[in-house]
Amino acid sequence: MRPDRPSDTAELVCAWRALEALLPEGERLVSDPFARAFVGPWRGSLLDLAERLPARARTALARQVDRALQGTMTFVLARHRAIDELIAATPQAMQVVLLGAGYDSRAVRLAPALRGRRVFEVDHPATAGRKAELAPLAYGDAPRAEVVPVSIDFAGESIEARLREAGLEVGALTLWVWEGVSMYLDEAAVRATLDLVRGLSAPGSLLAFDAWCPPAEGLRRLTRRDLPSLAFRLLYHEPLVWGPPPERLEPFLREHGLALLERVEAGPLVTRYGARRRPWLELSSMVFVVAEVDREVG
Ligand SMILES: C[S@@+](CC[C@H](N)C(=O)[O-])C[C@H]1O[C@@H](n2cnc3c(N)ncnc32)[C@H](O)[C@@H]1O
Repeated sequence: MRPDRPSDTAELVCAWRALEALLPEGERLVSDPFARAFVGPWRGSLLDLAERLPARARTALARQVDRALQGTMTFVLARHRAIDELIAATPQAMQVVLLGAGYDSRAVRLAPALRGRRVFEVDHPATAGRKAELAPLAYGDAPRAEVVPVSIDFAGESIEARLREAGLEVGALTLWVWEGVSMYLDEAAVRATLDLVRGLSAPGSLLAFDAWCPPAEGLRRLTRRDLPSLAFRLLYHEPLVWGPPPERLEPFLREHGLALLERVEAGPLVTRYGARRRPWLELSSMVFVVAEVDREVG
């Protein structure tokens, strides 16, 4: 992201949730009625046009958009759904930290599951500032969890210090959500985040995230590493930076005191929710992961 502007990718994925909200309830991967309020003017005008279409045409439009994006939209919606389900399944005692929260509205959407819990929404000041401006209108007086906004630039500031100042209960059971962020960071920043999770939370805490896991070498590396990165650079102006090779994911997490609980490749993740699996998704090397702060070393 550009440091002087709110994140465009945060708004883009939010626009995908807003488009999904226009589909009939039974066809949606996620239901986010608040997403539209965080979408800026030009994407908003497209959504207004889509809203005027008959229901069947909206569904057809959403499918075409996803086809043009080679399944990326569906993957992004499916990972959101998987994290929603995880949150709903976690105990009430778990505080929640959203790292790179963007326009995540779970504190309101999932208010019954999050009642009595604190939700730390950690994001860059530019994105967090825009969200703070728009949130009152977006949410109105809808019931919500206790939200603690934490503004920070991951590049150069200590997340730990800011979370402590913000009142994170250090050493308590925590669910960390790191959605759509890790693949834009270098290896050192990814490792530092895993250490943060391990260092600040109790054994049994959870980390849900998605990662880019391209093969380390050979021809598959050329297709599964370089093509997705080029596509992301062209489509989203944010090149993919780093992720562990697939066979290194589990040992990599273990090096940081985290045990792999679940790992689902992009294709199977979208089919889990009945969505169409597009060939490029297989190439993308995207993986959805749930890891646990290790009870043994904790
Ligand atoms: C792709 S968006 C994902 C947003 C959200 N998790 C979602 O899935 O809807 C990436 C998020 O990371 C945040 N981010 C990127 N670089 C950052 C940095 N250097 N410091 C803090 N936040 C950053 C952006 O502001 C943005 O909200």
